Amino acid sequence: MKKMLVLAAAAALTLSCGSAVMAEEVSTITPGVLTIGTSPDFAPYEFYHIDENGDPQLAGFDIALAQRIADDLGLELQVVPIDFDGIIMEVQNGNIDLGISGFSPTPERAEVVDFSDLYYQGGQAFCVNTEKKDAYAGYEDFKGLPVGAQTGSIQMDLANENTPDADIVGLTKVTDIVNELINGKLEGAFIEKDVALQYAKNYPELYVLWDVPFESEGSAIMAKKGNTALLEAVNGVIAAALEDGSMSEYITTAQELASDEGKVIEGQLDELESETE
Ligand code: ARG
Repeated sequence: MKKMLVLAAAAALTLSCGSAVMAEEVSTITPGVLTIGTSPDFAPYEFYHIDENGDPQLAGFDIALAQRIADDLGLELQVVPIDFDGIIMEVQNGNIDLGISGFSPTPERAEVVDFSDLYYQGGQAFCVNTEKKDAYAGYEDFKGLPVGAQTGSIQMDLANENTPDADIVGLTKVTDIVNELINGKLEGAFIEKDVALQYAKNYPELYVLWDVPFESEGSAIMAKKGNTALLEAVNGVIAAALEDGSMSEYITTAQELASDEGKVIEGQLDELESETE
């Protein structure tokens, strides 16, 4: 009986100082800072939005969720833009605390990093130029034609599975894939469905032709293997953000910002990077 009371008191204590307690237990690569890596070519998850002063700002529901995690853990958020195919290695090497970049938690990835619970449910799509939307009956029509997918993404696996006879082209950024579909350099592309639908709002030349089935659907956050305290804290924040409605707000805000035509950097992204180098 006495033991139970003590346990109850301990539980009450943890509840009352919730996040402060968590922050002390959580270890990050730079004390007091949560460093996350993301590939901002993926609206509405992560992208650059031009603010009223004309300056590009990182935006998207992944960034809002990252901010919430940092706030709840009492940490300062630092976001490092990294090409998508480099993020896993940065997490593995301990150069960043978390990878938050619309990651699908596949069994292969789970061998080298740990995944959080899912915070978003998406789907996969095969896209073409709107002009060609009636030109194809099936994947076999893409034999020998250029079909794009982001390097290091599950969309690359989908391309290899569904269009093995196509000329599969890996590109670093999803925004480049969108550009190449629009200018006719690519004939088709595998893109996350909600991302394709988002870019199609600003670029009506982009057309979602078919849904593509995929077994590890949904997005999760990745942490270095064994950083259990951080991952548990992240799962706590994900649960809270889903429960209290903030996650839906982050998504709505991100979709609105990403639909702000002319204010979302896509093709200009490369110019932006070379300017800041
Ligand atoms: N969900 C896909 C994957 O995990 C694509 C994620 C791409 N993210 C990005 N920010 N470009 O492979």
